[in-house]
Amino acid sequence: MYKEILETVAVIRSRHAQTPVLGLILGSGLGSYADTFQPRTVIPYSELPHFPRSTAIGHSGNLVLGEGEGVPVVAMQGRVHFYEGYSMAEVIYPVRVLGALGMRQLIVTNAAGGINLSFRPGDLMVITDHVNMMGTNPLIGPNIDELGERFPDMSDAYSRAMREVALRVAEQKGLFLRQGIYMGLTGPSYETPSEIRMMRALGADAVGMSTVPEVIAANHMGIPVFGISCITNMAAGILPQKLTHQEVMDTTERVKEQFMSLLRSIIPALAFLARAEGNG
Ligand code: HPA
Repeated sequence: MYKEILETVAVIRSRHAQTPVLGLILGSGLGSYADTFQPRTVIPYSELPHFPRSTAIGHSGNLVLGEGEGVPVVAMQGRVHFYEGYSMAEVIYPVRVLGALGMRQLIVTNAAGGINLSFRPGDLMVITDHVNMMGTNPLIGPNIDELGERFPDMSDAYSRAMREVALRVAEQKGLFLRQGIYMGLTGPSYETPSEIRMMRALGADAVGMSTVPEVIAANHMGIPVFGISCITNMAAGILPQKLTHQEVMDTTERVKEQFMSLLRSIIPALAFLARAEGNG
């Protein structure tokens, strides 16, 4: 597996020489931020050996390398999900490639349903921690010692230092951010109202079908993570209406500008943090 990772890394390096400081996983409908990188190299996943291809609607499936706010970055425009039928190893393969490529920090984004009753569709939530309810773990199998240890620590899975920087910068910019715990399920069916009540009782603020595997993989590699959920809808049973993927897409479209302005302001501050920690 490590050999494959290095093969993918070699192809990326041959197309874009600069090592990215920061990696971004841009979830459903949130990929357009990478279109603003200047200069930019766009590599379709289909041109990368061993890379999984995404099938979900709203995921374009490109690796985009370049500079965002003057910071060398690499973005995944679209990810693959466990519910698409990929193995967990395939789901985390891209994050491992970005780690081997040299990224020092990871920003993960997703669309999520709001469980916390004070949330509203369109809110942006800084992920403070997650609960893995996917029933499996992406690190099951032989450990890749080159990447990290067998039993990685998860006690700062969403870097406190990165969260503090992001919250400070957002406040200065007048951007309102929620904070909360993300519960990750496999999907693809949405939850029942009873499941949502159970998750609220267990302390979850938002629910989604991604992110948890990638964040575990990043922690395995010792890469600090900042996570942000776009609350696209209230979770099942909260409002007297059905859940639809259309609502998820419509809400991400509506908050895209606010989301991009958040990324634009936090990226330089986070990159500065990486350097200050002797990490970049
Ligand atoms: N549940 C699970 N995943 C989601 C939701 C939801 O309500 N909204 C967006 N992704």
